[in-house]
Amino acid sequence: MTTLNDYFQSHLNTASTDNHSQKSAVIDVINTITTVGKEITELLRKGALADIHGEAGAENVQGEQQKKLDVIANDLLLNALTTNKHCAGVASEELDDATAANEAGELLVLFDPLDGSSNIDINMPTGTIFSILPYNNKGQTVQNSDFLQKGTEQLAAGYLLYGSSAMLAFTFSDALDSDNDGVVMFSLNPTSGEFELVKKNIAIDEDTKEYAINASNYRHWLPPMQQYIDELLAGTTGSRGKNFNTRWVAAMVGDVHRILCRGGIFIYPKDTKDPSKAGKLRLMYEANPMSLLIERAGGASTDAVNRIMDYEPTDIHQRVAVVLGAKNEVLQVQQLHKQ
Ligand code: F6P
Ligand code: MN
Repeated sequence: MTTLNDYFQSHLNTASTDNHSQKSAVIDVINTITTVGKEITELLRKGALADIHGEAGAENVQGEQQKKLDVIANDLLLNALTTNKHCAGVASEELDDATAANEAGELLVLFDPLDGSSNIDINMPTGTIFSILPYNNKGQTVQNSDFLQKGTEQLAAGYLLYGSSAMLAFTFSDALDSDNDGVVMFSLNPTSGEFELVKKNIAIDEDTKEYAINASNYRHWLPPMQQYIDELLAGTTGSRGKNFNTRWVAAMVGDVHRILCRGGIFIYPKDTKDPSKAGKLRLMYEANPMSLLIERAGGASTDAVNRIMDYEPTDIHQRVAVVLGAKNEVLQVQQLHKQ
């Protein structure tokens, strides 16, 4: 049995002298996030008994109704990370602007404190997503603009999944992954309270028969996306020559977790419902961290045309279309969009 602490110790032993201090800072920040993850797990296990269900009575910057647990999870992460000495600032789905933490910190942390909030009140999976970036203006107070770095700059990214068991999945960037472990998964042992390693070097098959999309938006999609789904629905009677199956958790963490476990493609496409929005999901704390996980597991992650991690961000809350997972399916979507 390898606990998260054992795992990190091994990674600190193999880290190169060039990046040892950066890696130890990243590890410290992940430890802070997982400690909060355990607190959120506890609250979710108590459920209705912990008074975490229902609306908080406010809207976030995205114009979405906040649930009580969105606010609680956000506050827990905010308090814990702003007191971590390595953290120079944080940005959250639930906060309009970045929050400055420690000027001497060398890292920035972005998070979606509770992904899939519509699942809270019905006892279905939710998650916490995080992305860790370097802070390049050490010694100065953090601004929103400091966070506007490409996904390829991430030092580590991951999520906590609050499902029938609580799990942690993350990856270091290639440069920091001195043990070549790729994407790793840990399960929270409820008896010991420790995260224990269950899988490493997770690899996503290039092909799949499973896709995730909210098809109620079909009429709002662009024609190439409609065509792609039409082809999947035609199954053995259509050009693809095989039958596909749909799965939709309504929490991106749940859908990405399934893809890391058994493959598939996840799509939240651009649609014409609100032309001012490029998609539903947010680039900086949803799409980029998930893209790092998916690519490090051998999958692909695009906006249907371009690689997500190559986006030059312009806003911490910017939205993006997301097509990620099995390489060959993502390629099919790209080909239809390029035609
Ligand atoms: O964070 C946004 C989100 O909750 C994702 O986690 C999820 O994939 C998606 O929205 C669900 O969207 P819909 O409400 O259209 O099913
Ligand atoms: Mn979310």
